[in-house]
Amino acid sequence: MKITVSLIKADVGGLAGHSRVHPDLKAEAALVLEGAKNSGKLIDYYVTSVGDDLQLLMTHKHGENSSLIHGLAWEAFIRATDIAKKYKLYGAGQDLLKDTFSGNLKGMGPGVAEMEIEERKSEPIAVFMMDKTEPGAFNLPIYKMFADPFNTPGLVIDPHMHDGFEFEVWDVKEHKKLVIKTPEETYDLLALIGSKSRYIIKRVYPSQKNSHMPYEPVAVVSTDKLHEIAGKYVGKDDPVGIVRAQAGLPAMGEILEAFSFPHLVSGWMRGSHNGPLMPVSVEDASPSRFDGPPRVIGLGFQLAEGKLIGPADLLGEKAFDNARQTALAITDYIRRNGPFEPHRLPDEEMEYTTLSEVQKKLQKRMVDI
Ligand code: F6R
Ligand code: MG
Ligand code: MG
Repeated sequence: MKITVSLIKADVGGLAGHSRVHPDLKAEAALVLEGAKNSGKLIDYYVTSVGDDLQLLMTHKHGENSSLIHGLAWEAFIRATDIAKKYKLYGAGQDLLKDTFSGNLKGMGPGVAEMEIEERKSEPIAVFMMDKTEPGAFNLPIYKMFADPFNTPGLVIDPHMHDGFEFEVWDVKEHKKLVIKTPEETYDLLALIGSKSRYIIKRVYPSQKNSHMPYEPVAVVSTDKLHEIAGKYVGKDDPVGIVRAQAGLPAMGEILEAFSFPHLVSGWMRGSHNGPLMPVSVEDASPSRFDGPPRVIGLGFQLAEGKLIGPADLLGEKAFDNARQTALAITDYIRRNGPFEPHRLPDEEMEYTTLSEVQKKLQKRMVDI
């Protein structure tokens, strides 16, 4: 049976600044999705949040880019926004950049990660949601899961994984994409995805040589760039991703291992700083210090004919305590760099922030040397 898993998110207002989602917003969104489940539009759903982003996980049979499902998410965000406005939450309706829904969420503000799959005999999935960073923050962990044998010994040990994987990489500046195969083109892949603000891993597929798995997505990441839609800084894109696990794919533990290193990502305060990505529990998913540090939560589910069995809080577990400690030590260190690069992002990435206005004003006073 073909099932579509859709993870759609938006920041429609924060409780005390850009910190967290008010529970009433989640309850309102859940009400909309419950109605859709009862009328058969959805098989199942789960509503949660990370930082100031409201997260809607939905399963259904309508495929990717379905106007029905995107419309439903839009309605949930609008209804949550109404409450956010009533409560005067900060940035109410912030990510809803258009007034009316016209069939698809593309270019409207919310972030979308979806995959249509043939549900396997047992289908464990992990969904990851980040706040105070951008889609390229997924490049390193997704690369490690599917292409780094030091992270994923299954690439060496499991004959089904030995053929490798194919990475669909998007150039979000030029709006182009290509497919790169690993392990044979590993260096080519790294040549692009190291530039994480521009080249983003959108999907991963099993190698076409792999006869064990159908050629369908095994990982997908939201790649929506808010500043490209709005033309100015409207918060970072706070990405989400879905990853399938086990039986010829990375084991759940190999997937999680990729988050044991709090790598540097851009975002954090004013979307303008590099900082460590800290893995946290759902309970700790609310940025604080310097509006951060950037964080990621992971939820595990088993799909059962599309029903979401779970969740398991994957990154809150004790085994990630050291990663959190490291992230906090990096936070102390990097914060002392204040407004200087490379803590603050380089000029190219500051283009869409208000810093350019300040710099422009000073340009007028420049004289030739
Ligand atoms: C980062 C973020 C926050 C805000 C900061 C200033 O993605 O959302 O760090 O940029 O709190 O917000 P404003 O300009 O709304 O006061
Ligand atoms: Mg925000
Ligand atoms: Mg956010």
